Amino acid sequence: MMNNVNAAQESAPNVLIDIRALSKRFGPEQVLTNVDLAVAHGDSLVLIGGSGSGKSLLLKCIVGLVAPTSGAIWIDGQDTADMSASERQAFEGRFGMLFQRQGLFDSMLVWENVAFRLLQDQSLSRSDARDIANEKIRSVGLEVEVGDLSPAELSGGMQKRVGFARAIATDPDILFLDEPTAGLDPIMSNVINEIIAHGVEALGATTISITSDMVSARKISNRIAMIDEGHIIWDGPTMAIDESDNPVVERFIRSNVQIFQE
Ligand SMILES: Nc1ncnc2c1ncn2[C@@H]1O[C@H](COP(=O)(O)OP(=O)(O)OP(=O)(O)O)[C@@H](O)[C@H]1O
Ligand SMILES: [Mg+2]
Repeated sequence: MMNNVNAAQESAPNVLIDIRALSKRFGPEQVLTNVDLAVAHGDSLVLIGGSGSGKSLLLKCIVGLVAPTSGAIWIDGQDTADMSASERQAFEGRFGMLFQRQGLFDSMLVWENVAFRLLQDQSLSRSDARDIANEKIRSVGLEVEVGDLSPAELSGGMQKRVGFARAIATDPDILFLDEPTAGLDPIMSNVINEIIAHGVEALGATTISITSDMVSARKISNRIAMIDEGHIIWDGPTMAIDESDNPVVERFIRSNVQIFQE
């Protein structure tokens, strides 16, 4: 089921994100080991795995927040390690990210959070940025008036919506969502999953999400990869996961209950 992408220099056709033999060590601690993962254009991949298995770290390596110890990440046929500053900037302009801990800035209003990257874009006026923020705020089912509040005044579910609105503010074609429903009750998780599914479809974005909750994983993915102690131990179509024949995957699915974590 796993791709042996190292053998070839070129990524397979249609592969957008190609992770090759990626490893990351912090001092003596080997966290990611030889991760191979290919994500096709339009895929909605969910990463599952226990706490501390390396899911968030893998995303951070892909977006360039953490440098891998070895291995490579190819995006659209290009090795990210070889990107020039301007190529790097262009790539960053293509992706949106929702962090595990929202990372909304309390010093800014909700709409300014949503428009954060738009406001950095010198070519866009503040009022144009506000218009786009309002549209995104509405698209996640909130009233535009919420834009004038501080993030601290919002419920957990509203903060998740705002985090997602910010991730899609620049109409990215690659989305990274780290635990978009963590800490929410099952009903609110469902609402957020619907918003994500619709938002992703509207953008036509390729998505990598992390979730600890199998209900969400099944709902928002067409592919699932399970990571265990830094290894990808299973990778395949979502509908095939119940027949994985992998005892670790089976145990994870069986024991998975809605986890209220933050
Ligand atoms: N910057 C860092 N410095 C040192 N160790 C780190 C760093 N980032 C992550 N780690 C370690 O890497 C391991 C994996 O962390 P990661 O955040 O990827 O886990 P996770 O799978 O996302 O878990 P969770 O489901 O709890 O969010 C942990 O043992 C963590 O302590
Ligand atoms: Mg994490």
